[in-house]
Amino acid sequence: MIISLISRKKGKGLLMGRNIWYNVTSAPVAQRIECWSPEPKVARSNRARRSFFGHPKPQPLPFLPDGGRMKLENFELERLQSLYEHEVDCNLTESGLYPYTLRELLDGAEIEELLDMRLGYGQTNGTIGLRQAISRLYPGTTIDRVLVTNGTAEANLVAIWSLLEPGDELVFMLPNYLQIWGLARSFGTEVKPFFLKEELAWAPDLDELRRQVTPKTKMIAVCNPNNPTGAVLTSGAMDEIVRLAGEVGAWLYADEVYRGAELSGEETPSFFGRYEKTLVTGGLSKAYGLPGLRLGWLVGQVAAVEKAWSFRDYTSISSGIIGQKIATWVLQPARRRMVLDRGRQILEENVRLLGDWVDAHRGIFSLVPPRASGIAYVRCHLAMSTREFSTRLRQEKSVFVQDGECFGLPGYIRVSIGVQKDVLLKGLRLIDEALPGLC
Ligand SMILES: Cc1ncc(COP(=O)(O)O)c(C=O)c1O
Repeated sequence: MIISLISRKKGKGLLMGRNIWYNVTSAPVAQRIECWSPEPKVARSNRARRSFFGHPKPQPLPFLPDGGRMKLENFELERLQSLYEHEVDCNLTESGLYPYTLRELLDGAEIEELLDMRLGYGQTNGTIGLRQAISRLYPGTTIDRVLVTNGTAEANLVAIWSLLEPGDELVFMLPNYLQIWGLARSFGTEVKPFFLKEELAWAPDLDELRRQVTPKTKMIAVCNPNNPTGAVLTSGAMDEIVRLAGEVGAWLYADEVYRGAELSGEETPSFFGRYEKTLVTGGLSKAYGLPGLRLGWLVGQVAAVEKAWSFRDYTSISSGIIGQKIATWVLQPARRRMVLDRGRQILEENVRLLGDWVDAHRGIFSLVPPRASGIAYVRCHLAMSTREFSTRLRQEKSVFVQDGECFGLPGYIRVSIGVQKDVLLKGLRLIDEALPGLC
C-alpha cells in the first residue's frame, strides 16, 4: 500500500504509523521509511501541511518518550539461534517437536491438491476453514475472534503493539521467551516481572504476583505451558491470575504455543473463556512439529482481535495460503490427535533419557522434569556462568544449548527433548566430553 501510494505520487510524502511520523521519499524501498525526527522544528512543519495526498491531514499521534524511535533490545535467544543453530554439529536449542516432512504428514490426494493450488493472496485474517478449525480448540469461540498470523511470534507482535502504550505497566512471567518483554519495553511500557520458582516445582510465586499488580497494570502476560521450564499452571493458579487481572481491569495475555505437547497427554486448559479481557496465542511450531509453516493465531475479544488485525496490515498482510491449507488439515480432530501423539512419544522417551543423565551427574546438574513443551530447564551447579558454559560447549564441542540468561533466569541451560533420540544422546555425550575442562 505504501509503495503504490508513493509510486502514484512519485515524490515525497508523509505517512503516519503508531506514535510515529514517517518520512517517505522516492528512495529505494529499504530506505524509504525512516522515523521522523521529533525536533520541534519538524513537528511544526508537519502541522503546517494542509493536505495529505489531497486528503485531510491526519492528526499527529504522541511521540514515543525516547524521541519517536523504537529502541529494540537484542533478542538474545533468537539472535544466538540464528547465528549458530545451523552451524553446530549438535543443536539442542530447538524448543518444539521434531519437524515433519510434507510426505510424512500428508496423503497423496492432499499433496496433489497442493500442486494444483493457485498461489494468490489468502484472506488476510485467515481462511474461513482454518479459523473454524482453530475456533474448535477454544469452546465458545467464533471465527471473528480468530486472527491467523505468521507464527505465534507475529500474533504476539501485533497484539502487544496494538494494546500497550508508553507509560503502561505490564506484569510479566519469568523465566520466559522474551519476545513480549522486549517488544513492550521498546514501546515504552514498564515491565514488572513475577517468577516461577524452582523450589515450587516451577509454580508461580503468587504473593509476588499480587505485589506486582497495581491499578496501573494494563496487562498480565504469561506463557503456559512455559518456555523454558515446561511447567503447567494449576487451575488454582490460573484462577488467581484471572482474579488479579479482573481486579484491576487488566488484559490477560497467554502465550499458549506449547499447548498440546503435554507428557501426560492431558491437554493444558486454555485461559480463553475464563475472563472477557483475555487474548491467547497458539500455533503449529511446537507441539505439532511444523515451525516451517510459520502458522500461528491470536484468539480473544472481537474488538481486540480486529485491532490486532489492522496492525497486521502493516506487517505481513497475510499468512501463506499453502500453510493455511495444511494447517486446516492438521487441525482436523483425527489428524491432530495423530500428530500430538507422535510428539508425546518423542517427549516421553527423551525426558527419561535426560532424567537418567541428570541423575548420573548429581552435584553438577539437577532437574525439575517438564510437564509439557519440547524442552527441559536443567539447573547447573557450576563455578562459571551458564552463558560462559553454553558458549564453551558450542565452541569446544560444537554442541549448542541455550543458557538461562536468554530467559531472564541464569543458572540453567535449556535442553531440547523434542529432537530425535540419537541427537539428544549425541549432545549429552558431547557435554560429557567437555565437562572435565569446565567443572
Ligand atoms: C513462548 C513462545 N512464543 C512464541 C514463539 C514463536 O513461535 P512461532 O515459531 O510460532 O512464531 C516461541 C518460539 O520459541 C515461543 O517459545
